[in-house]
Amino acid sequence: MKKSSFGILGLGVMGKSLALNMLNNHIPISVYNRETGEEVGVVADFLKTANNTSVKGFTDLGEFVNSIETPRQILIMVKAGKVIDRVINGLLPYLEENDIIIDGGNSHYEDTAKRVAYLSEHKINFIGLGVSGGEEGALKGPSLMPGGSKESYQKIAATLEKIAAKDDDGKPCCNYIGPAGAGHFVKMVHNGIEYGDMQLLAELYALLLLTKTYEEISKLFFEWNEGELASYLLEITAKILVEKEGNENLLNLILDKAGNKGTGSWSSTVALKLGVPTTVKTTAVYARYTSSFKNERVVLAKKIDRKIKSIEPIDLVALKEAYDFARTINLQQGLQLIKTASDTYNWGLDLAEICRIWSNGCIIKSKKIVAYSKVLQQVDSLFEAKQVVSGLNKQETAITKILQNGLANRVNVPCFYEAYNYWIAMTTAQSSANLIQAQRDFFGAHRFQKIGAKEEESFHHNWSELC
Ligand code: 3PG
Repeated sequence: MKKSSFGILGLGVMGKSLALNMLNNHIPISVYNRETGEEVGVVADFLKTANNTSVKGFTDLGEFVNSIETPRQILIMVKAGKVIDRVINGLLPYLEENDIIIDGGNSHYEDTAKRVAYLSEHKINFIGLGVSGGEEGALKGPSLMPGGSKESYQKIAATLEKIAAKDDDGKPCCNYIGPAGAGHFVKMVHNGIEYGDMQLLAELYALLLLTKTYEEISKLFFEWNEGELASYLLEITAKILVEKEGNENLLNLILDKAGNKGTGSWSSTVALKLGVPTTVKTTAVYARYTSSFKNERVVLAKKIDRKIKSIEPIDLVALKEAYDFARTINLQQGLQLIKTASDTYNWGLDLAEICRIWSNGCIIKSKKIVAYSKVLQQVDSLFEAKQVVSGLNKQETAITKILQNGLANRVNVPCFYEAYNYWIAMTTAQSSANLIQAQRDFFGAHRFQKIGAKEEESFHHNWSELC
């Protein structure tokens, strides 16, 4: 029997879509899913749906592994966490030297780095693959962020590049990201940026709802989506706003408690650890958490007296500019986190290439990312690009107008605030941190640096205890 060139383990939503994508690209595959509990019949159902002679289905792990040509390429598509280790250990007895295992889930990058090291002891290669695009992206072309050894990537590159989305120039939205956990790190930051972008849209929706109907907001978003602000998230939001269930607008039926699967908070935790202020996406995580305190919100809302005299009309031109401003800051903060991680871990990540990989197939794809990927070919940071800084500078009036509107109407717009606060902080040469340093030295003799002194020099002052 002719062996398959690729194996997919796990036929959940993403695994199934990637498997179908491979078949559509004429890649002969073997698929495996366990045959227990609710998963009984998953493989048989998939074979029926696929209806393709290039796929072989298995419920026996050994038979599955043996059906794939060596060195094997096996993509694991199961829930991130301990399950991955169980799956790896289940596969190990059947694997041979130089086989390549790919984890396509949202694993934590530190776990991925440990798995790379663990499997290399067994002479097995391990790739942590960030996959973005949801079910549709996985089927029609996702954005792919592989991390691990370059040699192993080169062996799977042809397959991954075939199934990946293509950028405006027809190049695959997939390229080697960097060693060990770098691929999953970049995917994690992608998700953090996604949280920020989603929250900004939710804040726009809250501001606009004061004076507009769902239909009017949708129309406005569709209009914006025709221009330079075009993005996947803006487009789906415009669609969501007019979605109905029966005669009712579906948004009126959805409980206002936002869920999360953890990557947004991981991204913020890592940013804190590495000392990078990713305030927009971290605020978006907090906004989701705050929303989940629904009962408390309902009780408190009844207790307070909202003193809004009349609704302040919103300036739509300013709103559009403020949205552009905040989105740019959110992206810049995410890229700064990637850059710092790259320097810290010595990963050699290429920001321009990462933005190019995000230019299609993924949830944060947008016209702006395409433009910024080109900008980043010339400079190391968006803040080093003259046109970006002067654009943000020009948009200051707009963002302050929108924040004032939020305040006047008592609308919660935390990510817009954070974007602006960060911009003020980053464009203020003399901050108030000298006072923090003095306080630290006062109570803890933590020492401080002095203006004009050598960087390695530190000072302690004998503070007068006058009070
Ligand atoms: C995913 O990776 O599934 C999403 O992009 C992020 O999921 P969440 O919003 O449930 O955390």
